[in-house]
Amino acid sequence: MEYRIRTWPDKILKEPTKEVDFFNDRLKEYIDKMWEFMYKEEGVGLAANQIGIPYQILVIDTSIREKKNEEETEPPVKMVLINPKIVEKEGQVMSTEGCLSFPGVQITIPRYKRVKVVGKNEKGEDVVVESSEFLSIVLQHEIDHLNGIPFISYLSPLKRKLVLDKYLKSLKESEYQTG
Ligand code: CO
Repeated sequence: MEYRIRTWPDKILKEPTKEVDFFNDRLKEYIDKMWEFMYKEEGVGLAANQIGIPYQILVIDTSIREKKNEEETEPPVKMVLINPKIVEKEGQVMSTEGCLSFPGVQITIPRYKRVKVVGKNEKGEDVVVESSEFLSIVLQHEIDHLNGIPFISYLSPLKRKLVLDKYLKSLKESEYQTG
């Protein structure tokens, strides 16, 4: 498989990923590749389909985030999450986000304030993750990727069209420049 960062409108970003039922060397290879790309691209999280792997796998490392809101109390975490599902959600916050699959796009969208997520670690053991701070947003953003939902879907249709038109235009221009 050829691994590379998939950018919108790549089809793989629009389709729900498949559940993982293999906790073996194949999964380990996927996870290793995901860490490699996430750190190379300086992301705080990566969903497997963002590098072309059609399975429910996330990697997150909130320690590489540049600046932290002073009101936050949760410590940074590094984790792998397999087959994650949001089982509780509450509250609302506005969140300003970028995405490795939409280079150059930064938008402000509503997110839940707190989420509780269940899933498995790379060994297949059950894990539960809860957050009401930065990690909560990362979890929502990345789990959406696994469900084929891009962050632009939270914009109004008009705003979404403006953002997408600008993004697609910038893609075309960069293609033109690089030949
Ligand atoms: Co993203």
